[in-house]
Amino acid sequence: MKIAYNKTPIDTIKGPNNSIDVFTSLDNSENIDSDVVKSFGEEWSKFAVHNDESVRELRKEYFDIVNETMVNKNTYMIDIGCGSGRWTDYFTDKAGFIEAIDPSDAVFAADNMLGKKENVRITKASVDTIPWPDETFDFGMSIGVLHHIPNTKQALIDCVKKIKKGGYFFVYLYYRFDNRGIIFKSVFYLSNIFRLVISRMPGVLKKIVCDILAAVVYWPLSRFAGLLHTLNLHGLAKKIPLEPYYNKPFYNLRNDCLDRFGTKLEQRFLKSEIEEMMKAAGLTDIVFGEKSAFWHAVGRKL
Ligand SMILES: C[S@@+](CC[C@H](N)C(=O)[O-])C[C@H]1O[C@@H](n2cnc3c(N)ncnc32)[C@H](O)[C@@H]1O
Repeated sequence: MKIAYNKTPIDTIKGPNNSIDVFTSLDNSENIDSDVVKSFGEEWSKFAVHNDESVRELRKEYFDIVNETMVNKNTYMIDIGCGSGRWTDYFTDKAGFIEAIDPSDAVFAADNMLGKKENVRITKASVDTIPWPDETFDFGMSIGVLHHIPNTKQALIDCVKKIKKGGYFFVYLYYRFDNRGIIFKSVFYLSNIFRLVISRMPGVLKKIVCDILAAVVYWPLSRFAGLLHTLNLHGLAKKIPLEPYYNKPFYNLRNDCLDRFGTKLEQRFLKSEIEEMMKAAGLTDIVFGEKSAFWHAVGRKL
């Protein structure tokens, strides 16, 4: 089902299982932040294992709005910014064939996890060097990626171009707390100062600081929210920052803490802004997930 690249690779590198064709360098991609890409290469080398029960639960949070009409055994799909390949992995027994692309060294972790699956190909490419013709894919997704790219709106347009008419595109973008109160927003803006400092630290120090933050901030806050849930105080629990982590293992807390505080470029969007960008990219019938993670949405290409 896979189709040939429409460009010549600039290099081919050896992954743990397969040769990986390279279409992006930090020089030939315009809509890319080189520090972000380097940092994610390191992050996914550190957090490359995602096969536990809690991650299966997290997958349900994203894909509650994806159904079998959108993804089935006839679906040719693309995962843009696949990272370690954890979400590609989720779809390997649901889709026909999956192209998983990422411009960072995360492709090595992805090849390690997915390299033996017959219906996956891993490619080193960026949103603006996707090596297939326009209107190739039945379903595309980009999860937690486009907010780390300088021009998110253009990136979404470039992704949706690759989807066939009548196909679907799923996106998860960081929300700007439009459904949260003032205390929640204030905690975020305070934490953002930490991010601006931590994300500029050298790699090893950054990882140590993020592990400490996961232990002294993420863990207590999320477990306190969990305690409130146990006491049936669900409304109150939901007001606690980091509540969505209340049932996630410490490994995920460390991973997401590094993701959040280790990344220099992070943009946040209102639901209305995401809807606008999706429409501008040519999507219609847009559906947003009403539960965390915010905001995840899927639309159909006109
Ligand atoms: C937060 S990670 C998400 C990875 C994966 N989608 C997941 O949710 O596990 C963001 C990913 O976006 C990738 N990325 C950064 N800039 C990109 C670009 N210009 N084009 C495509 N992917 C990019 C990074 O290398 C990184 O693996």
